[in-house]
Amino acid sequence: MSLIEQAAKRLEQLRKAGVPVRGPESDGGLVPTDAGVETRVQSDAPSLQVSTPAPETRVAAANVTAPASVVAQAPAVSRRIDIDLQALAARGLMSPDAPRSQLADQFRVIKRPLIANAMGRGVAAVKRGNLIMVTSALAGEGKSFTAINLAISIAMELDNTVMLVDADVPKPSVLKMLGVPPARGLLDVLTDQSVELSHVLLRTNVEKLSILPSGTQHARATELLASAAMVQTVDEMASRYPDRIIIFDSPPLLMTTESRVLAGHMGQVVLVVRAESTARSDVKHALMTIESCPVKLMLLNQARTVSQDGYGYGYGYGYGYGYGSEGA
Ligand SMILES: Nc1ncnc2c1ncn2[C@@H]1O[C@H](COP(=O)(O)OP(=O)(O)OP(=O)(O)O)[C@@H](O)[C@H]1O
Ligand SMILES: [Mg+2]
Repeated sequence: MSLIEQAAKRLEQLRKAGVPVRGPESDGGLVPTDAGVETRVQSDAPSLQVSTPAPETRVAAANVTAPASVVAQAPAVSRRIDIDLQALAARGLMSPDAPRSQLADQFRVIKRPLIANAMGRGVAAVKRGNLIMVTSALAGEGKSFTAINLAISIAMELDNTVMLVDADVPKPSVLKMLGVPPARGLLDVLTDQSVELSHVLLRTNVEKLSILPSGTQHARATELLASAAMVQTVDEMASRYPDRIIIFDSPPLLMTTESRVLAGHMGQVVLVVRAESTARSDVKHALMTIESCPVKLMLLNQARTVSQDGYGYGYGYGYGYGYGSEGA
């Protein structure tokens, strides 16, 4: 039987199974996805895929033989939300609208080695270098502030697409800091097998930035971070989105052991240290908990820095490959 005959037979089988099949006259809708690839949106029936499906849409495309009702449930494209960019600047966060602010300049320096490692342009290849966890020894050192600014700063690069994951599931704050209403996310993927990453990933008006919210609160949220489901999800992210830089906001290392387990799956860990506040022994202890991570960078936050108009607060940047120096 020729390929054409096989295809015709398959279509006939689908028709008999009650699955409506598009004729050649039906065009479907072409919708750009955040991966920049056009994919065919199909709300009612499977059809032959002409263009390459974007990563988020693979599940829908793979459901060609599933009943129509199942196919219809899987959204072909991730939902899009709008971040109020002016409000970001008002909250002290970096805004793509103000690319020449002092904060933007500081993050330009901070992101460079992280991008080099993520893209395999560092001194040595870093396994899973595109998975970057932002953490700290204790609470309130500036993890979320750093993770959000880093994500926006990297998304403004011509070549890089970013996914910001709010993995600080016991204390999520990314959506709130961005002024976005609560939404499903990571915890929903971890607790409900029918929820795919693509269903809850949010595309944004910052073209190359998508966000994975922490999701619906769960009594055992913290434990879930170290679960087999989380390991599987991180593996899926690493293989499904190898060309994206994925930034994880996460709980403090000395307050939850789960955060350390998560760190074990990352290529790079940024340890935010609040200047003149965190005890040296805590920083040292935190570094010991992430010893196995290939790249550790220490970021001194709210250090006094000399700016053009005198002393201001901002980022000092100290980092080291291998073991971060406690004096940084
Ligand atoms: N460099 C900075 N410049 C200005 N404000 C900052 C800076 N770093 C942190 N902040 C502010 O300090 C507060 C605490 O920061 P953030 O929420 O990022 O800390 P965190 O480590 O994520 O805290 P938690 O452990 O509670 O999640 C926030 O209001 C944040 O906007
Ligand atoms: Mg936080």
